[in-house]
Amino acid sequence: MLLLSLTGLIGLSYASSQQVLSSGTTDSNGFSVFQHKHSDHSIRIRQQDESICAAGSAQYTGWLDIGSKHLFFWYFESQNDPDNDPLTLWMTGGPGGSSMIGLFEETGPCFVNEFGNGTYHNPWGWSRNSSVIYVDQPVGVGFSYVDEGAEIPGDSPTAAIDMHRFLQLFVSEVFPQHLNHPFHLSGESYAGKYVPALGTEIVKHNKLYPNEPQIQLRTCLVGDGYMSPKDSTFGYWETLCTTNPGVAEPVFNKTRCDIMAANMPRCMEVLDTCIRHPDPAICKAASKVCYDGIIGWYDNESAYAGGRNRFDITRPCEYDDICYIQAAWIDDYLNSKPIWDALSPPEHIKKFNVISDAVSNAFEQTSDLVTSTDYQVAYLLQNHVNYMAYQGNLDLACNTAGNLRWANSLVWKGQAEFSSKSLQPWKSVVSATGNNETVGTMKEVRVRTSDASEKESRFAIVTVDNAGHFMPQDRPDVALDLMTRWIYDLPFI
Ligand SMILES: *[C@@H]1O[C@H](CO)[C@@H](O)[C@H](O)[C@H]1NC(C)=O
Ligand SMILES: *[C@@H]1O[C@H](CO)[C@@H](O)[C@H](O)[C@H]1NC(C)=O
Ligand SMILES: *[C@@H]1O[C@H](CO)[C@@H](O)[C@H](O)[C@H]1NC(C)=O
Ligand SMILES: *[C@@H]1O[C@H](CO)[C@@H](O)[C@H](O)[C@H]1NC(C)=O
Ligand SMILES: *[C@@H]1O[C@H](CO)[C@@H](O)[C@H](O)[C@H]1NC(C)=O
Repeated sequence: MLLLSLTGLIGLSYASSQQVLSSGTTDSNGFSVFQHKHSDHSIRIRQQDESICAAGSAQYTGWLDIGSKHLFFWYFESQNDPDNDPLTLWMTGGPGGSSMIGLFEETGPCFVNEFGNGTYHNPWGWSRNSSVIYVDQPVGVGFSYVDEGAEIPGDSPTAAIDMHRFLQLFVSEVFPQHLNHPFHLSGESYAGKYVPALGTEIVKHNKLYPNEPQIQLRTCLVGDGYMSPKDSTFGYWETLCTTNPGVAEPVFNKTRCDIMAANMPRCMEVLDTCIRHPDPAICKAASKVCYDGIIGWYDNESAYAGGRNRFDITRPCEYDDICYIQAAWIDDYLNSKPIWDALSPPEHIKKFNVISDAVSNAFEQTSDLVTSTDYQVAYLLQNHVNYMAYQGNLDLACNTAGNLRWANSLVWKGQAEFSSKSLQPWKSVVSATGNNETVGTMKEVRVRTSDASEKESRFAIVTVDNAGHFMPQDRPDVALDLMTRWIYDLPFI
């Protein structure tokens, strides 16, 4: 499919480790192409410059081609020490949300401006102390695509297989310095399902194929994650009917709270049935019971229908289902000519969408939307991969109350100790005031899960006040501090 020629050097605007790209060949569109040694997988990659993203370090875009599937990525070298700093992957949730949301309004080194016609540098981008790669996945999302007639993945484990192939080729052939660097998996929302699935795929693959390139997975960090739809549903009551999220008055009155409380036991029962017997028909029926009895009381009045915001109980919904106007700016920007000229999407892609309906529909046909990730997260901890759930406390969709309940009930060696602890305040230097202030609460444990290993597994929940679902957008300075402490294994308290 790709026309290969024998040159490969591409223009450099930052001098550091880019010479690794000289080993690729170049295709007719000027992409360097890296072929997997033992399969027909390849990566097309092209260097970009500050004109499309004011990143402050070298950046590249391209696609992984695996048969009929084509996964789009945007990669930023660390602004600090790219030859030695770790590598972090970011995945936005959905299912169907483009990781360009994470890049251009939350954790990326550049944000799209309010005219949707350029970017400005974000000083709290996560590429400050780590190289970061944003991938549009599962295929079908954002700039990723499938060839005509090919199937779109409908569940997290299937998506994880593609992502593992991507990472293996990326660190072994394209940027081989990362083969020896610690690797971190991050994301938000539905990435509470993607991250445990991909982490599990990586650990299992490393064990089964010790002679293949190994991804050095060390930690996972998931913001407002959907690890357990059941617990997130349970948390609706506390989030809407108490002041615990950090509001002066509960959002709902006693009448509504009584109705939701009365409906809760049956909702929990039927969700348990789905989790035990994850047949799509059973799970769909369970979801309906919970939507009608609990979720719908708020979500029916959200977005267009009433203006409530599921991602921040204190704010109105500004735009579409996603509620934040930045998504419209991203849409405009990524559909503009300078971007299409720079990225060169294939001709049959007509438009970039921040949310893929095809992918969210594919997931609705399976039970993935309702099942939990307990087994996978426990497996990761058992295998010395650290796991953090961080939370914006004003979120409803994947609320703090629910994820705290999930974290306390996760069955693993650290459960007894973790659930016995209470949340404690943690401090961060807030850029607006320059003061070292309490920004939220946290608790964590470090546990040796096997006698054979010296390494402890770290499990934490970290909350941030005055922030919603898209916490890094609301408090970018606190988010960078939290991310850096986690990947460098530093304490919070
Ligand atoms: C992060 O990078 C800065 C330089 O930009 C450096 O001073 C700092 O030590 C780095 N932090 C860590 C935890 O490595
Ligand atoms: C972006 O749009 C604004 C408002 O229309 C305009 O003032 C500015 O010059 C534009 N910038 C670019 C780079 O086109
Ligand atoms: C409670 O809130 C609902 C929805 O906002 C409203 O329709 C209802 O009248 C309220 N009930 C009381 C007793 O205030
Ligand atoms: C939400 O809206 C749907 C469709 O209008 C309706 O069937 C359902 O009863 C509503 N649920 C709640 C909890 O208001
Ligand atoms: C902020 O305060 C905490 C707790 O009092 C302390 O441990 C930490 O070192 C302080 N951080 C800075 C940058 O001063």
